[in-house]
Amino acid sequence: MEEIAKDEMRHSEKLSEMIVDLGGVPSMQHRELNFGKGGPKGFLKRLIELEKEAITLYTEHIAAIPDAKIKKLLTHILHEEEEHLEEFTEQLRELGK
Ligand SMILES: [Fe+2]
Ligand SMILES: [Fe+2]
Repeated sequence: MEEIAKDEMRHSEKLSEMIVDLGGVPSMQHRELNFGKGGPKGFLKRLIELEKEAITLYTEHIAAIPDAKIKKLLTHILHEEEEHLEEFTEQLRELGK
């Protein structure tokens, strides 16, 4: 769980660097936090939902953005999100759904 959190911090850092390289200003604003309900199983279900959402968005962005350097970064992040999804799904399975 801690390793995945570190991956997510790296995603945020790499994306921020890319935005700055492109002349933009990264925003630190985030949407309202929702950690899910119902203890560990509920939290894992929410995390699975978020990883799936991220996978859909990165897949769409990779298809839409022609720049090879950006595509490469997003593809790397996408693969890590797919690993996170697998890991959370496995943890939920271990808890007995
Ligand atoms: Fe991420
Ligand atoms: Fe993730």
